[in-house]
Amino acid sequence: MHLLDNPIRSDELLVKTVNIKHRFYASSSEPLSHRELIEFAKANADEQLIELYNDHSLGYADNGGSLDLRQELATLYGHEIGAENIVVFPGAQTGMTITTQALLHPGDHAIVVTPSYQSLEEGLKYAGSEFTRVVLSPDDNWQLNIKEVAAAVRKNTRYIVLNDPHNPSGALLKEKVKRELVILAEKNDVLIFSDEVYRLLELNSNDRSKSITEMTSNGIALGTMAKPFGAGGMCIGWVACQDKIIVEKLLKAQHLFAVCVSRPGEIQAMMALRSRDKIIAKNLAIIYENLKLLEQYFSRNDDLFEWMPPQAGGTGFVKFKGPLSGDELAEELLEEEILVFGSAIFDCDEKLKQYFRIGFSRRTMPAALKAFELFIEERRAQWGHPR
Ligand SMILES: Cc1ncc(COP(=O)(O)O)c(C=O)c1O
Repeated sequence: MHLLDNPIRSDELLVKTVNIKHRFYASSSEPLSHRELIEFAKANADEQLIELYNDHSLGYADNGGSLDLRQELATLYGHEIGAENIVVFPGAQTGMTITTQALLHPGDHAIVVTPSYQSLEEGLKYAGSEFTRVVLSPDDNWQLNIKEVAAAVRKNTRYIVLNDPHNPSGALLKEKVKRELVILAEKNDVLIFSDEVYRLLELNSNDRSKSITEMTSNGIALGTMAKPFGAGGMCIGWVACQDKIIVEKLLKAQHLFAVCVSRPGEIQAMMALRSRDKIIAKNLAIIYENLKLLEQYFSRNDDLFEWMPPQAGGTGFVKFKGPLSGDELAEELLEEEILVFGSAIFDCDEKLKQYFRIGFSRRTMPAALKAFELFIEERRAQWGHPR
């Protein structure tokens, strides 16, 4: 299978919509500026890091990520994870793809949750792996059904792919479910690759359960500066794993396929990580305000929409109860320069065809919601839902 054999589901849409007015789908936090970052570093009296930024070498950075950044990243996890357990990649997407290539062989079998981010599944196909989808459902609050996972395990199953917090629903896996999954994985000698890029954006920090990499040496966690920090342009993602043999394989794969990450991005990431409480509080404040507006809107319009409040991240999956599918609604919204993701972006099955994804982590969301509201009001009568 060639890497480009499958269409990129969101690609056509995003190419068509470069200058679109309302990005009501956007998933990462409000973009951070470098100037803001320097202000945060100054507030921390971190002159040394500012100096490091001004003076850094533009030669190749260290394979697997520089030690100073890996030490900083390790502080996101418990004692199980040190700098030596972290491999830095040029963004989370590169991290997930290279990890999958490095750990799977053609003919291996994987289990992947769906609906989920397309690249999680594409990586499996590209690695030549067979895979079984386990479908999450709003009827179970998007929780993983462990019995279904157990039923999907085969002799050649090597890998279970999770996304927690979950894009698109914004649901969090219950710690109890994660513990059951860990037992299943250890018993069957299967790795758990958990895409945790929306971690740190839990609406209630008490809901944050342990990262999969803290729970088991079979666990591999994926993180990014893009989602919680609004810093996708730093191009810094990472994988954390207790198992030293896996780390060695990832270092080798990183060296062969990604060479190194950007040193300025690494230093910026350290600045952001040292101010993480402030930056994340700022980003969560935007999310709380936007969610309030969404709650109000969807409760005023509950004849047309079913809204399950998310628990984490910047995305929600909304059910449309009108006469169009989620994809048809998304297409009509596009005509009005409002971009949401229909369920086809997640290759959803029939049961989820009424769903579409929105994003609520940007300061531009209230304007997008206003335009959305106007659009819906104009169509209510023709849809048989007059005011
Ligand atoms: C679930 C999930 N994983 C990974 C990524 C990619 O992260 P990055 O932009 O850091 O490569 C995204 C981006 O939308 C995502 O939603």
